[in-house]
Amino acid sequence: MKVAVVGATGVVGQEMLRLLESSPLGDSAPRLLASARSAGTKIRWRDAELTVELLNDDTVLDDLDVALMAAGSETARKWAPRFVAAGVAVVDNSSAYRLDDEVALVVPEVNPEAVPRGPAIIANPNCSTIILLLALKPLMHLAPSRVIADTYQAVSGAGRAGLDALEREATGGEFRIDDPFPFPIHGNLFPSIGEVGADGVTVEERKMLDESRKILGDDSFVVQGTCVRVPVARCHSIAVTMLFRSDDPARLSSALDALRQAPGLIVEEDPQAPPTPGRLSGVHEVSVGRVRAPSSDALQLWVVGDQVLKGAALNTVQIAELWSAKNG
Ligand SMILES: NC(=O)c1ccc[n+]([C@@H]2O[C@H](COP(=O)([O-])OP(=O)(O)OC[C@H]3O[C@@H](n4cnc5c(N)ncnc54)[C@H](OP(=O)(O)O)[C@@H]3O)[C@@H](O)[C@H]2O)c1
Repeated sequence: MKVAVVGATGVVGQEMLRLLESSPLGDSAPRLLASARSAGTKIRWRDAELTVELLNDDTVLDDLDVALMAAGSETARKWAPRFVAAGVAVVDNSSAYRLDDEVALVVPEVNPEAVPRGPAIIANPNCSTIILLLALKPLMHLAPSRVIADTYQAVSGAGRAGLDALEREATGGEFRIDDPFPFPIHGNLFPSIGEVGADGVTVEERKMLDESRKILGDDSFVVQGTCVRVPVARCHSIAVTMLFRSDDPARLSSALDALRQAPGLIVEEDPQAPPTPGRLSGVHEVSVGRVRAPSSDALQLWVVGDQVLKGAALNTVQIAELWSAKNG
C-alpha cells in the first residue's frame, strides 16, 4: 500500500508517521504533504529522511492507495473528493464529512463493519467521542436512559498552536490574541469549546451527541455534558455518569466484567490511583477508573485517553489497516 499523510507536520500527522513505522501500511515509505509553510522540510521516517511535498493542483495523486488526512476541514473539503476521484481511499480527521450520510464514521472497536469497500472518504470521529465510546460501547447492553459526560480536554486538541500557547504562558510569556483559546489557558480553564449554538450547547458538545448516535446506530441515545479546555498538554479525561430507569444492585459487577473484556480498554481498579493524563500520554489504550454505583440507578466512571493517539492518529491508522485488509 502506498500511503500519503496530509498534514504531516502537525500534531496528529507527526503521530501518524510514527505509527506507520510499525504498521503493515508502512511497507513502503509514505509521501508527506503539507502547505507552503512547511513544504521542503525534512522529516526522519525509520532510517530515511523524507521531504514534505506541497499539496497543490500539481500534486500527483494516482500512485497512492490511501491518504491519511489531518489538515483541517477546509483542506479536507477541497482535497478528499479529489483523492477519491483519483482512486485513493481517504481517512479524514476533520469534522468536514463526519455527519455526511454517505460517509462512514468509524471507531474500529465499535463499528468496524462500517468500513467501506473501494476508494471512499471515511471519517475519523471527534477525539472525545472516540474515547467516550471505547468505554461506553461495552456498557450499552445495560441500556442507560441517559449519559452525562463532562470532558477535560487537553490543549493539544487545538493542534500545535494550542500546545505553543500553553508552553509560552507557562514560561512567563503573554497571552496572544491569535492564540486558539479566547483567554489565557495556563493556570486557568475554559468551559466552552467551539461556537455556542442558540440553545447554549457548544459545537464540541453537539459533536459528542450527533457522532455517538451515528456510530452506535441509535438515534435515541442521549449524551449531554460540558466540554472544558484545561491546561493539560495531552490526553482528554471524561467524567461519565450513566443513568438508568430501574434499580439494579448487580449492575456494577456486570459493568466491571464487560469493561475488563473490552478491546482497547484498560480498567484501573485501584480507587487511590485513578487514570491521569500525565501518566497516559503516549499510551495507545484508553483507561477507565473509579467505576462505581453511587446509587442503584446510576453508574459513574472516569475515562482518560491520549486524544492525539486513540482520538486521532491511532484510530485513523487502525481504520486504514481495516480498509486495507478489506480491499487488499
Ligand atoms: N490535535 C488533536 O488532538 C486532534 C484530535 C482529533 C482530530 N484532530 C483534527 O486533526 C486535524 C489536524 O489537527 P492537528 O492538531 O494536527 O493540527 P496542527 O498541529 O495545526 O497541524 C495542521 C497540519 O495541517 C497542515 N495544513 C494546514 N493547511 C494546509 C493546506 N492548505 N494544505 C496542506 N496541509 C495543510 C499543516 O501544514 P503546515 O505545516 O504546512 O502548516 C499541518 O501539517 C484537524 O482537522 C483537527 O481538528 C486533531
